[in-house]
Amino acid sequence: MALGLEERRVRLDEATRDRLVRLFLAALAEPEHGLSKDQIEAAPRGLPAGGPSESIWPRAERSPPAPESREVDVSTTQIPLTPDELLTTTRAVRRRIDLDRPVDREVVEEVLEIALQAPTASNMQPWSFVVVTEPDKKAAIAEWYRKSWAAYEEMPFAAANLPYDDPARKALQQRVMDSATYLAEHFERMPVFVIPCLGMRPEAIDLPASFVQATLYSSVIQAAWSLQLAARARGLGSCWTTLHLLYEREIGEILGIPYEVVQTGLLTLGHAKGTDFRPGPREPLETKVHWEAW
Ligand SMILES: Cc1cc2nc3c(=O)[nH]c(=O)nc-3n(C[C@H](O)[C@H](O)[C@H](O)COP(=O)(O)O)c2cc1C
Repeated sequence: MALGLEERRVRLDEATRDRLVRLFLAALAEPEHGLSKDQIEAAPRGLPAGGPSESIWPRAERSPPAPESREVDVSTTQIPLTPDELLTTTRAVRRRIDLDRPVDREVVEEVLEIALQAPTASNMQPWSFVVVTEPDKKAAIAEWYRKSWAAYEEMPFAAANLPYDDPARKALQQRVMDSATYLAEHFERMPVFVIPCLGMRPEAIDLPASFVQATLYSSVIQAAWSLQLAARARGLGSCWTTLHLLYEREIGEILGIPYEVVQTGLLTLGHAKGTDFRPGPREPLETKVHWEAW
């Protein structure tokens, strides 16, 4: 389907592009990820004088209903995978989604039930999930996704623009880009969107950003990954996306999601063509692990 991405491509102006490139190169070069010494000095440490602001508990979160222990009623068919196979073969599936096969509501409910077993900080369970299957809504969201995609393609941290010298790594990044281009072009045709939401905005909380963000986002995103694993176990494929969040407000308006509620991403979901997914290429463990100290 020719959706004319090329025509819609947004060119970043030169100044913005230069600023992004400088920021990105500084982030690669500096162990402090491009922050200046002054910014690092000025970053909040621990509780501010007088404690966190009152805004920390938005009203909607004050009186959640008493939770009940939940039996997860698993009735849909699962493909035979060991736990390790499941964990190592759950890929970002884009091209191999069957665009013409709808996903039964029962399956979506089942993977969501499983997602609810994920851990959350203080057992807050601050999540909600917006499931979208209506074609008009998906098409409206897809337009915003493609607008974001057009900007992303020009960004220095887009998969294919990252400054790798190794030709094999360059080729891998290009494959990711090609696959992601397919998703952008066919976004509205993905059978189901699931938007995992967080019930409070981290930026409203007056505590060190890394503490607030890690605590709140991790209290939704682990559930989203459980959902992706449960989906894979049932022969579905999924892809976590965040690009559309450049237009979080606009997508909120399409779906009636209030701005106080954070959209943490959007999972595209559908039946996968085949089940034979393999572990993905990853940088070696020894380049990623520091034993005992950095
Ligand atoms: C935080 C995050 C944001 C992502 N955003 C997008 C996105 O907007 N669009 C997209 O096509 N893929 C997106 N992805 C998928 C990544 O490209 C994918 O996980 C990565 O290339 C590894 O894929 P693999 O597990 O199949 O090897 C995102 C993944 C993560 C974790």
